[in-house]
Amino acid sequence: MVNIGIIGFGYWGPNLVRNFSSQKEGVVLALAESRVERHPQISKIYPEISIYSDSSDLISNVAIDAVVIATPVFSHYRLAKEALLAGKHVLLEKPMTSSVDESKELIEIAKSKNLVLMVDHTFLYTGAVQKMKELIDGNQIGALKYFDSTRINLGLFQPDINVLWDLAPHDLSILNYLVTFKPYSVNATGVSHTKNGIENVAYMTVNYENDFIAHFNCSWTSPVKVRSTLIGGDAKMLVYNDLEPSEKIRIYDTGFNHTSDEEKNRIMVDYRTGDVFIPKLSSQEALFGVAYDFIDCIIHSKEPLAHAELGLEVVKVLEASQKSIKNKGKEIIIPTT
Ligand SMILES: NC(=O)c1ccc[n+]([C@@H]2O[C@H](COP(=O)([O-])OP(=O)(O)OC[C@H]3O[C@@H](n4cnc5c(N)ncnc54)[C@H](O)[C@@H]3O)[C@@H](O)[C@H]2O)c1
Repeated sequence: MVNIGIIGFGYWGPNLVRNFSSQKEGVVLALAESRVERHPQISKIYPEISIYSDSSDLISNVAIDAVVIATPVFSHYRLAKEALLAGKHVLLEKPMTSSVDESKELIEIAKSKNLVLMVDHTFLYTGAVQKMKELIDGNQIGALKYFDSTRINLGLFQPDINVLWDLAPHDLSILNYLVTFKPYSVNATGVSHTKNGIENVAYMTVNYENDFIAHFNCSWTSPVKVRSTLIGGDAKMLVYNDLEPSEKIRIYDTGFNHTSDEEKNRIMVDYRTGDVFIPKLSSQEALFGVAYDFIDCIIHSKEPLAHAELGLEVVKVLEASQKSIKNKGKEIIIPTT
């Protein structure tokens, strides 16, 4: 049995507690929540779980093997470092940290102490993303050409991070998981419609050295909720609509061939439209898969699907996007190391 401690019982924490509580090989031993007024509600649902108001008391509890951190992003690094140094395995909420240097340091500590360090990039564990991975790896879509995601709604304005840091980690982790080649640079623009200067609408382009390109549209100020991604390959095209209850993925047998007329310096394009295929997807709750993977990797000393290096790659793009926004969309090269 892996003994789990969870820090943060705000919006997302309760989902983690519920999913960790239903694992066969793990048990939630303790919770830390600094808002003590939340404690009676927690003990009513989970009378068997110890509750702390100070996360250091949870981290120093010798009975705890692993710590799950579901607090605001600015606190991820400090809490994860404290937990790793105390010899605990760590599952961090997304995005991993507020900077590349912080993520790298956590990875080094985890490696040196042989501990599992994982990031809750929940979408990797969805039936939809697993199916897309299977189709792409099975060469059903062909050579990938573009990834275009829209994640907009009337969202909760975050006090510490902009809309890209809040929403794009989902799409960036999916992209990183599906596409094997590495991004080269980022151009991003965004605006803040509040006095704190934190962007609530932002657009980001991630550039690659081959002919693949990725674009992200994120907003907390859209009257409609859209969660859609287009992935284009040279054989087929895929539409992923996460708001569809079951038919989340459609594969279009659509494409184009082009020939050039060198003499006239013209491109001629032939379009092809064929059948649409809707695959059946697993409906297991993604967060159950996250909790299972974390515990399984602790028990069997394995690397999780949402491993820390993937979390770091996401933070590298986010940090570059922030620099680009502050420089009016200037191209920022993503560090390779
Ligand atoms: N994976 C997902 O799909 C997903 C979805 C939503 C949020 N998140 C992530 O989860 C994290 C938390 O987001 P949220 O929306 O739940 O935030 P929140 O502000 O609603 O909740 C955070 C809770 O942590 C508590 N807290 C903060 N520091 C603490 C400390 N040191 N000790 C004890 N308690 C502490 C706060 O009192 C608060 O109740 C963020 O990183 C966010 O990006 C992930």
